[in-house]
Amino acid sequence: MNPLTSAEHAHEPLDESLQGLPTVVSGTPTNTRKLYLESYGCQMNFSDSEIVASILNDAGFSTTRNEAEADLVLLNTCAIRENAEQRVRTRLRQFKKAKKDRPQLVVGVLGCMAERLKESLLEQEKLVDLVVGPDAYRDIPNLVDQVQGGQKAVNVLLSREETYAEISPVRLDTNGVTAFISIMRGCDNMCSFCVVPFTRGRERSRDPQSIVREAHELFEAGYREVTLLGQNVDSYKWNVDNKGQVKNPEEPVVRFAELMERVAMVNPDLRVRFSTSHPKDMTDDVLHAMAKHENICKYIHLPAQSGNSDVLKRMNRGYTREWYLERIDAIRRIMPVCAISTDIIAGFCGETEEDHADTLSMMESVQYEMAYMFAYSERPKTLAERKFEDDVPAEMKSRRLQEIIALQKVHGAARTKALVGHTYRVLVEGVSKKSDEEYFGRTTHNAVVVFPKENAQRGTYVNVHVDDCTPVTLRGKITTAEAII
Ligand code: 5AD
Ligand code: SF4
Repeated sequence: MNPLTSAEHAHEPLDESLQGLPTVVSGTPTNTRKLYLESYGCQMNFSDSEIVASILNDAGFSTTRNEAEADLVLLNTCAIRENAEQRVRTRLRQFKKAKKDRPQLVVGVLGCMAERLKESLLEQEKLVDLVVGPDAYRDIPNLVDQVQGGQKAVNVLLSREETYAEISPVRLDTNGVTAFISIMRGCDNMCSFCVVPFTRGRERSRDPQSIVREAHELFEAGYREVTLLGQNVDSYKWNVDNKGQVKNPEEPVVRFAELMERVAMVNPDLRVRFSTSHPKDMTDDVLHAMAKHENICKYIHLPAQSGNSDVLKRMNRGYTREWYLERIDAIRRIMPVCAISTDIIAGFCGETEEDHADTLSMMESVQYEMAYMFAYSERPKTLAERKFEDDVPAEMKSRRLQEIIALQKVHGAARTKALVGHTYRVLVEGVSKKSDEEYFGRTTHNAVVVFPKENAQRGTYVNVHVDDCTPVTLRGKITTAEAII
């Protein structure tokens, strides 16, 4: 399976096992210089890499999957937890060795590690030639020239405007069926554990017309599913300032629910997904828009982080346990069927055994389809680093995390099993990893289904009767019976 299509919400890959497995990207070999690009971390980074490939394509670079033939190596990095940074450093040391034999090779760091580590990567450790932050990608061709002229090059300026709105991403490692569309950049939420507001800057939304145009172009090119990406899609806004004032009275105001509807109306055969929702901002109109359009997938990633209101307050999440559970009730009320997944952090500053028990009990009441679960990792500059002590011992964090994972395993398996015995509409995404005779695709709930190919085609919809499952995958057969959803 293509790691790109299995990436999670706007911060992290879907499958923990994929973390650290770089996605190597390729493109059309019309240009003379060769770019080798690896992406780490979240969907947003994968999406950004497609913008970088487009900018460098215009500057005479084609992408290669073979690092040995590269003139330029770029790592698009993640800083969300310490282990993500460690993986990148290990990789950079390997490229530093490669440079001994190939002194012309230019190595650069993009993404979230850029701002924080520019000095140490460039000067102290001398691991890279080039450091470029998430808002400075248009400058990469100049910076590469600068490096080739014998200088180190840096641009980590963050912007209040940059959305790369008119750049057509070069689709990388694509299955030709599913694609990401970035709808906003940055984050203003300042969750106390999170480094993203520092690495990616202020929140800004992209022009809705350019988003709808991109969705159209993807549909015309044969794509059948788009995932709208933002750190907090529920705060998407166009033509309104941060105080809620309309900027241009001649133009319509567009918020997330309306944007999603506009994308859904591109074509009924274009599925729409989105990530990430924020419990404090997810309004009922988003849920009503989902209910109204069959092609908006019935799946919400709604990170809870903790089930205890005091911990949530220290996390600066802007909601309580009760508020979160009310949002879950709203989802269930407005949509008869909707899968829900979450993110949970174990062992945040000051978390007691009772607080941890509250997280477990909240999981019991929601019964998530899926969850991304992490031990708290203190990040430099964050509010938590400045205000709170990282006082839960490592073994305790890890034990609590294991308890959370074990509980989620039970819930996930039960949720999967409950889907058996029915027929679902499935978008065929590609050939199954395990057998050439089989395809895999997804239901609207984002559940993976494997089934014999018969005469189906990739990028089309088939109805699949599900008759069996493992804890995470459904099995079935194509049928002429009607789908329940
Ligand atoms: N430590 C552990 N997990 C974190 N996340 C973000 N920052 C940290 C951190 N410092 C998790 C949150 C977030 C997801 C993308 O990563 O759960 O939703
Ligand atoms: Fe980080 Fe919170 Fe913004 Fe997500 S919403 S990117 S967790 S600050």
